[in-house]
Amino acid sequence: MNILIIGAGGFIGSNLSEAILNQRKDWNITAIDISSAKIQSLLGRPNFNFIQSDILTDFDVVENAVRNCNVVLPLAAIASPLMYVQDPMKVFELDFEANLRIVKSAAQYKKRVIFPSTSEVYGMCADEAFDEENSCCVTGPICKQRWIYSCSKQMMDRVIYALGIRDGLDYTLFRPFNWIGPKLDDITNPQYGSSRVVTQFLSNILHGRDLNLVDGGNQVRCFTYISDGVDALIKIIENNKNSAFRQIFNIGNPKNEMSIRDLAHKIKDLALNYDKVKENAMNVKIVDVSSGNYYGDAYQDVNKRVPSVAKAESLLGWTPSVNMDELLANTMSFYFK
Ligand code: UGA
Repeated sequence: MNILIIGAGGFIGSNLSEAILNQRKDWNITAIDISSAKIQSLLGRPNFNFIQSDILTDFDVVENAVRNCNVVLPLAAIASPLMYVQDPMKVFELDFEANLRIVKSAAQYKKRVIFPSTSEVYGMCADEAFDEENSCCVTGPICKQRWIYSCSKQMMDRVIYALGIRDGLDYTLFRPFNWIGPKLDDITNPQYGSSRVVTQFLSNILHGRDLNLVDGGNQVRCFTYISDGVDALIKIIENNKNSAFRQIFNIGNPKNEMSIRDLAHKIKDLALNYDKVKENAMNVKIVDVSSGNYYGDAYQDVNKRVPSVAKAESLLGWTPSVNMDELLANTMSFYFK
C-alpha cells in the first residue's frame, strides 16, 4: 500500500510515520512537509520518501503525489488556539482552503482519504460525552474567532461527507481528543499561549515561569497518549472488513479526564523528578489569569470535553490503554531528559 502523509513532519505525522515504518514493512510512505526537523531519524529509511514542499503553493507536487498513492492523510494544519485568535485567516487558508484542494484531488482520482477532523467541532456542546452521530456542533458568535478552526474543520467534514454521497469518495474522518506526547510542541519557545496546555506548562517550568490557569482552570479535557492515537490510525488505514469506510471516529481517552487546575498541580509535582527542571519546579507558582488577558477577547473556551469512543471500540476494535500517569511520565521524559 502506498500511503501519502501530508504534514508528515508534524506531531501526528511524525509519530505515525515512525510507527508505520517500525510495524508495517509492506507499506510505503510518501511524506510531504515544509520541514523535516521532527523526522530526521526517518530520512533514508526504506519505504520512506520525503518531499519537501509547501501545500499552500506547490499544487502540482501535491496533486501528483495524490495521483500516485492509494490512501492520503492530509494532516497539515494549524491546531493551536492562540493562532485561531491571532491569525484566523491563516488558519482558514491552511486548514480549509489548502486541504479542500487535496480532498477534491482525492475525489477526482478515486483515492481513499483519512482526514483529521477534531474534537473542536463539538465546540461548547453540553453532552456528557460527545457522540459522532448525535452530538451537536456548538460554536459562539463570529467575534469569537477561536471558532474559525472548529468551523473550518466542520465544513471540511461536511464537504467530505457530501463528496462521499455525490462522488463516491472513500473516506474516514477521525477526531483527536487532546493527543499528547513527544514532538507535540517546541517547548523551547517561551511565548505564552503558543503551545497546547501540557507542553505550555512544561515550557513554563523549563523557563522558570508561573503556570497560568485560564479563567479558573476548572475546564476539563481528556488527554490521549499519541501511541494510542497512532494505533487507531493504523487500524483505520488497515480498514479490516471495510470497518472504517465512510465513518467518523472520536479518538480519545475518556478515562484520562482531568481539569486544567489538577493538571497544573500534577505536572508541577512530577517535574520535581527531573534534575533539569527540579529547581524551577519548586519555585514556579500556579496563578490565575483571565482568558481576555491570556488569549485576547476573541477567545472562548470549551468547559468540558469528553469523547464517546464506543464506535471506535466496536468497529475498529480499538481501546486507548495509556493512563494519565504514563502519558505524563513519557511526555515529560521526552522533553526533560
Ligand atoms: C485543542 C486545540 O484546538 C487543538 O490542538 C485540537 O484540535 C484540540 O483541542 C484537541 O486536541 O482535542 P484546547 O484543548 O482548548 O484545544 O487546547 P489547549 O491549548 O491544550 O488548552 C486546553 C485548556 O487549557 C484550555 O481551556 C485553555 O484555556 C487552558 N490553558 C492553556 C490554561 O489554562 N493555561 C495555559 O497556559 C494554556
